[in-house]
Amino acid sequence: MAVQTLSSRILASMKTLNVPNLEGKVAIVTGGNRGIGFQLAQQLAKYGAKVYLAARSEAAAKEAIEQIEHETPELQRLGDKNRIEFLHLDLSTLKGSKAAAETFLKLEKRLDVLSMIFPLLLPCRYATTSDGIESTMAVNHFGTFVFTQTLFDLLVSTAKESDVRVVNVNVILLHAQAPAGGQFSTLDEINSPLTSAASAPDGLISNHLRYSRSKLANMLYTIQLQKEFKAVGSNALAISVNPGGVATDGALATSSMYPFLSALVRFVFSTFWKSPLEGATTALYAATSAEVRANAGLFGGAYVVPYGQIGKATKDGQDGDLAKTLWDVTGSIANATLAMTE
Ligand SMILES: NC(=O)c1ccc[n+]([C@@H]2O[C@H](COP(=O)([O-])OP(=O)(O)OC[C@H]3O[C@@H](n4cnc5c(N)ncnc54)[C@H](OP(=O)(O)O)[C@@H]3O)[C@@H](O)[C@H]2O)c1
Repeated sequence: MAVQTLSSRILASMKTLNVPNLEGKVAIVTGGNRGIGFQLAQQLAKYGAKVYLAARSEAAAKEAIEQIEHETPELQRLGDKNRIEFLHLDLSTLKGSKAAAETFLKLEKRLDVLSMIFPLLLPCRYATTSDGIESTMAVNHFGTFVFTQTLFDLLVSTAKESDVRVVNVNVILLHAQAPAGGQFSTLDEINSPLTSAASAPDGLISNHLRYSRSKLANMLYTIQLQKEFKAVGSNALAISVNPGGVATDGALATSSMYPFLSALVRFVFSTFWKSPLEGATTALYAATSAEVRANAGLFGGAYVVPYGQIGKATKDGQDGDLAKTLWDVTGSIANATLAMTE
């Protein structure tokens, strides 16, 4: 009975979406090997798009592709042209992020949907990456910036004849808990562990603050990306999406953070949270819905919550000047770092 209720809920939300025929379109979904990314890749492929499933593990991606092909009868009808392909992408290094986008540029002449699933589901301990950038900002923000920037011209050229969308899937609600003003106007600020009298570099509070800051960065990045499209006369859309609480394997694994309550937390998540397919629904809406295109002025640069409502960001989360500062600082750090590693 519970299963029937769940599947009818999913079917109802899919019906509301009214996903158009995506044949002829090309999409990239990062983090497509599991969780929300997997479901989104499957849905885009089901409706006809050729999908590049971008992941850091080839074995995990190939297993996911096989599963999608096995579970999606529509793919047999669509034939080889619409196969799901693997694209190697590790967002933890700038060089790797750029190389992945360059590989894609050699393979395809268009990109209609770019869906970035932000990799980190949880705050993590203080560390810097091999590029010398605080790891939460490096993986959640800098890698995405470089990957998308390298694909920017292709997105713009595709948008001349197609409805192009960049959809950034993220835990947006946490942006409200970022430090005021973000504290990302220099590399030193970005690399600050955000300690305080109340929390050591690896204390819960500083780990949480750095994580929330990366979420604010994702939102501001999407706002500025929308302005960059507009500045070159493109009608491509950039949209942030909060999927809601979703019982993915990654989310269920977070129950181990609560040692004595782990079983209860797991039970609550798996019973009351959205299924991974429901969790992908808002991103699918942002990526494909005609309603979004018809209201491009409202949705461009906005953040969208289940199922298709526009959410309200904090003052910092809608600050255009802060978004531009972050964009410029990120660009100059990324360029300088890439110049040293190339
Ligand atoms: N689940 C929720 O309740 C929920 C709620 C709100 C927002 N969100 C947001 O939605 C997004 C996806 O959530 P989810 O539950 O689907 O997460 P998930 O199951 O943990 O998936 C995360 C994906 O990111 C990939 N990834 C990790 N590190 C990477 C790297 N360095 N380079 C490239 N890819 C990397 C993972 O690949 P590997 O398999 O290789 O690790 C995996 O495919 C996250 O941004 C999350 O914050 C989730």
